[in-house]
Amino acid sequence: MQIIQTVAELRAWSREFHRSGKTVGLVPTMGALHEGHLSLVRTAKAACDGVAVSIFVNPTQFGPNEDFALYPRTFDADCTLLKAEGVNAVFAPAPEEIYQSGASTFVEVAGLSDRLDGASRPGHFRGVATVVAKLLIAAEPGRAFFGQKDAAQVAVLRRMTADLGLPVELVICPIVRERDGLAMSSRNRYLSAAERRQALVLHRALNAVDALVATGERSSEALIAAAHANFATEPSVRVDYIAAVDWATLEPVQEARPGTLIAVAAFVGTTRLIDNLVVE
Ligand code: PAF
Repeated sequence: MQIIQTVAELRAWSREFHRSGKTVGLVPTMGALHEGHLSLVRTAKAACDGVAVSIFVNPTQFGPNEDFALYPRTFDADCTLLKAEGVNAVFAPAPEEIYQSGASTFVEVAGLSDRLDGASRPGHFRGVATVVAKLLIAAEPGRAFFGQKDAAQVAVLRRMTADLGLPVELVICPIVRERDGLAMSSRNRYLSAAERRQALVLHRALNAVDALVATGERSSEALIAAAHANFATEPSVRVDYIAAVDWATLEPVQEARPGTLIAVAAFVGTTRLIDNLVVE
């Protein structure tokens, strides 16, 4: 497994595959890898001849009071996991390789970037769109792999790749959960034992929504109320948002229909967690 630190090297690595008619997949990550990331890697390995995983804790997607400095960095353990999955290359650039001094160009997906997580994390999606555009331009993959857990991020990146005409297919992989239902996240490791138990309310709330949808309920108001009722049983957890939206536009919908995204975000202690389901 090659460790690559520069954009030039990553592009050369990718072009070598393309030259021999082979396909390249990119799995962008911020490291601190868990089974959710590994499911993206396995899907990429099954679909592409060469797979690169980027590990870059992207400073521009963190707000001034967020956890950039604290964000877990476990590079050696990550590389061990990726090597075992047969990953061909890890791209681990220094911040200066991605953001050269004087850089003043950002990618902003207007509208979408201010909804859901974007509403509570101003500037977050500008940072995400910018770094993902840079990674795609550097790696030139035919496919790039993202998790459904970051559903608003998926909407922003789908819009961005369509608007910029980037020649890449985004492949969205299902949420991977712990045995008790908690969606896997690098931030779960911030939780104390008590918070870890409280965090299950996100999944419980979504299960309640799912059960209601199964009875034929379609009113977003009723579905959201059912989720709130669950959160009320765990008063130490502070809801950030519970929303029923069109997954493409992130605009609220009155009636849930197939493809509607039901998304939740909540603070468990100081840790902000997200989860969602897509109505079938
Ligand atoms: O989902 C993430 O881990 C990050 O937002 C991403 C896509 C790697 C961009 O930094």
